[in-house]
Amino acid sequence: IDRLATMVAGMTVDSIAEKYPNTFPAINPFDLYRGHLANVLGDITGVDTKIIYPNLSWTLSLDKGDLVLAAPSLRIKGKKPDELAKEWAEKFPENDPFFDKPVVINYFLSFYVKGTPLVKAVIPLVRQLGADYGRNASLGLRDPKDPSKGKKRIIVEFSSPNIAKPFHAGHLRSTIIGGFIANVYEGAGWDVTRINYLGDWGKQYGLLALAFEKYGDEEALKADPINHLFHLYVRINSEMTAEKEETEKRKLAGEDVAELEANSLDEQARRYFKKMTEKDEAALAQWKRFRDLSITRYKQTYARLNINFDEYSGESRVSENSMEKIGKEMEEKGICKEDKGAMLVDFTALVPGKEGKRLEKPIVRKKDGTALYLTRDISELLARHEKYNFDKMIYVVASAQDLHLKQLFKIIELLGHKEIAEKCQHVNFGLVQGMSTRRGTVKFLDDILRDVADKMHETMKKNENKYSQVADPEGTADILGISSVMAQDMTGKRNNNYTFNMDAMTSFEGDTGPYLQYAHARVTSIRRRADLTDEDLADADLTLLSEPHAVNIVRLLLQWPDTVQTTVKTLEPTTVLTYLFKMTHALSSSYDHLQVVGSERELMKARMALYDAAHVVLGNGMRLLGLNPVDRM
Ligand code: ARG
Repeated sequence: IDRLATMVAGMTVDSIAEKYPNTFPAINPFDLYRGHLANVLGDITGVDTKIIYPNLSWTLSLDKGDLVLAAPSLRIKGKKPDELAKEWAEKFPENDPFFDKPVVINYFLSFYVKGTPLVKAVIPLVRQLGADYGRNASLGLRDPKDPSKGKKRIIVEFSSPNIAKPFHAGHLRSTIIGGFIANVYEGAGWDVTRINYLGDWGKQYGLLALAFEKYGDEEALKADPINHLFHLYVRINSEMTAEKEETEKRKLAGEDVAELEANSLDEQARRYFKKMTEKDEAALAQWKRFRDLSITRYKQTYARLNINFDEYSGESRVSENSMEKIGKEMEEKGICKEDKGAMLVDFTALVPGKEGKRLEKPIVRKKDGTALYLTRDISELLARHEKYNFDKMIYVVASAQDLHLKQLFKIIELLGHKEIAEKCQHVNFGLVQGMSTRRGTVKFLDDILRDVADKMHETMKKNENKYSQVADPEGTADILGISSVMAQDMTGKRNNNYTFNMDAMTSFEGDTGPYLQYAHARVTSIRRRADLTDEDLADADLTLLSEPHAVNIVRLLLQWPDTVQTTVKTLEPTTVLTYLFKMTHALSSSYDHLQVVGSERELMKARMALYDAAHVVLGNGMRLLGLNPVDRM
């Protein structure tokens, strides 16, 4: 890349990096192109290059150019923007090394990069950086000038299912999006801690223990704890409902139900949970076993998704002492007050205007003295800050909990920790409709993944020839199934709802997970068949890549680091997925025009180098999303 930079007198990677803040020309060649263009336009327009630079924007598709400038954005008075655009285009040097003369449409100037210098700079850079192309370790540094000061630390809390309850669509989305966000920050050089905050506390766990005492089966628990506990949970709950109805009936009939109520399952569960909160050893040991076994199973499932948590936290881990302490503090500071025996935070009185009304009046202590979901989150947040001293914390939780997290952050702020509240961000997402599989409504992540994998396996079997060459068909079907689910989830913006559609997601037609995997496998297979060494590719004569199909692929490769950098801001998986589909389309339309096997040797080397670079970026993008790229399918 430095070679490219020094082709223009006086311009080096360093000079661009110094001149334009937040640019990384050594690892992001697009920064170099923008810097160069801003320099040239500075001479032509007389406008400060620092004003020009941020106004050079992307295009939506390659036919619109690589960069666009809207003449009015430079705010020159006295002349019509259309005329300015025309004038500047005329003045643009004929022999610019990087760009063709711009195309003018109304007051827009579209700039197209020249093919040969582009391919010569970008292909070797991508092949040399490999997995690092698109990463930017400097973004996460505390002090970019002094790496010894260390990385910034981020906590990403995601997935967070509830033990013994279904792993529903909200948990699925949180898992997919959270895994992705953690990868994005890791690639941006942050120190990332992944936390799973389990729903593992409350009266329902007392109920679960009762169910186990009555109907529990040791063997079944060990074999499949998640399913066994779920079945117990369902059974005891329906028993409890029946019991309540019966009591109600007798009550209406005028019977004395005091004794019935005192011995009801609900009351027993309450007492059992009370024992847990009072640190009863036997009760706690039993509950811990359920929790540990569940975590072991969860870990197996997460491994299929390439996800690894640094910490299994959970509502049970929040200490009663800390909640009591914060409760007192809230009372002293007038943040909460008594209301019919309970303690609540009256935001309508504490926060003026509409905001206060919207925040409502959440309870933080029940009449019986027990804490709630919100109470635990308050303590947990402060404890995490104490433990990790994070620079940022992201909660990946469904939009349905928007209010809950707003209340949480506001309480932290009212407690006098505005700086901590500002480090926290709720990354939310919409609903999944109609999530059911062929076996009925989904209960667990495993069920979903198994069903989709089965479906992929059937599809694979249809092509006997290819199927026979896949080393591990079951494993591949599993990966393809996971890719289907994930790509569908990542297709729209996070906040959009979508409908879970097995047939659509597993199809090879359209922009689906299997199609993306297919595109990756295809570009991988060329290398296998071409039989060229790394040295061959390194000394390929890239000037042979003059076809528009070849140049277009490289123009997309040029965009990759920029795409990733934007994603750090938007945290939208669709930004990456859309980019990858553009790449797969450019690749698939190129194959007929850029034959590798069968071409003359020099041409073969150059084209292989091109496809090798595309293979790198496709793989990098897929891994960033959390997908496992397959080589054969
Ligand atoms: N377990 C919760 C649920 O299933 C999600 C936890 C979200 N995280 C939090 N810190 N409140 O709804």
